[in-house]
Amino acid sequence: QQQHDICVVGAGLSGAVIAERYATQLNQKVLIVEKRGHIGGNCYDFLDPQANVRISKYGAHLFHTKHERVWEYVQQFSEWTPYEHKVIGLVNNTHVPIPVNIDTVNTLFGLQLTNSQQMDQWLAKEQVKYDHEPSNAEEVALSRVGPRLYDLIFKPYTKKQWDRDPKELGPEVTARIPVRNDFDGRYFSDPYQALPKRGYTAIFERMFHHPNIQVYTNVDYFDVRSQLDCGRTYYTGPIDTYFADLGWEKLQYRSLTFERQFYKNKDFFQPAFVVNHPYESADFTRIVEYKHLPDQPKSPHTVIFVERSSDVGEPYYPIPNQRNKDLFRKYQDMANKEPKVTFVGRLANYKYFNMDDAILNALELFDQDTQQQQKQRQEKA
Ligand code: FAD
Ligand code: NA
Repeated sequence: QQQHDICVVGAGLSGAVIAERYATQLNQKVLIVEKRGHIGGNCYDFLDPQANVRISKYGAHLFHTKHERVWEYVQQFSEWTPYEHKVIGLVNNTHVPIPVNIDTVNTLFGLQLTNSQQMDQWLAKEQVKYDHEPSNAEEVALSRVGPRLYDLIFKPYTKKQWDRDPKELGPEVTARIPVRNDFDGRYFSDPYQALPKRGYTAIFERMFHHPNIQVYTNVDYFDVRSQLDCGRTYYTGPIDTYFADLGWEKLQYRSLTFERQFYKNKDFFQPAFVVNHPYESADFTRIVEYKHLPDQPKSPHTVIFVERSSDVGEPYYPIPNQRNKDLFRKYQDMANKEPKVTFVGRLANYKYFNMDDAILNALELFDQDTQQQQKQRQEKA
């Protein structure tokens, strides 16, 4: 049995930050096991060999953050090209900006609004007023955009995305969708928005390129756990899998499928990187064309991915309902009692994390754990 200061389960962003910090800041020996055949977790990207376009295996990934600390941290591992993500929606056969802004409603309803005050007034007339806090996704959407935009965009899209009526979904589902009272066509409003010049996978290669870090792919932690001797373990997999022996129910996730379509000798398929198709008659939610992104190699071809929401597949989006919240809390109680293991990342926290959330969470856990360890050493001395 080889002794490892630190074992990390999962070579995604959360595991990578933990490994990098322990290796470079504390000179600790880190072992990473990753059950997939590649590093990078859901950020993994690679060159599509036929199209010669860099694509993301698990869906489009746009980096955006308001956290100085995270922005500074990621500079070490890549050059970044500023990129402000814009999404177009096909609504009533017309391309309009998503999230909804002044241009969106002017186009859809033949208005001529010119400023925020007019947009606020228009929205106020549309909005449904409740005498209670909106308690589900439908009420939140209606209270924010009113019935017309709700029926055109939010309702059919949310239904396809979750395969559930918005009434049955928690208020946080539509709370995430911003509505703009100006002409801002950006999808995110964070001050830092950029893409890594050579892609995300290159960042992970850089982070793991350290004599203190050993990475093993195609290794499931639960197959090797009994042979490992770890000072401390950082677990970034699903929390319910860790406690599978308890025989409890599983946490539910929503997944996605990506249907690849290759177009030989075609410059572009669609006018933007991401086009949403909210209307009910499309059985897909959106189409992603990576060729629109900066720093792509030259190619005469293009490739698109038609996205559909699904109940089976990789665990992507936690399904926010009371059952899952209560069940997660039970798992979390167990996690808190687990000695020498820290649960980190989106799967262990059963929470949708953006990349910057994942990085910040891992950096803060590293600080917390190492400060605590230092305190314990001082007390002993
Ligand atoms: P993961 O990336 O899931 O990594 C966990 C790793 O642990 C996986 O590689 C898994 O295989 C491994 N693992 C699990 N169990 C075991 C085991 N038993 N043994 C060994 N290994 C194991 N964020 C943004 O900021 N912008 C975006 O545009 C964006 N788009 C997204 C689109 C989609 C479709 C999805 C799903 C996510 C998106 N995200 C985006 C979020 C981003 O992917 C996450 O923030 C990030 O991947 C979290 O990293 P993680 O390490 O916590 O989890
Ligand atoms: Na995304």
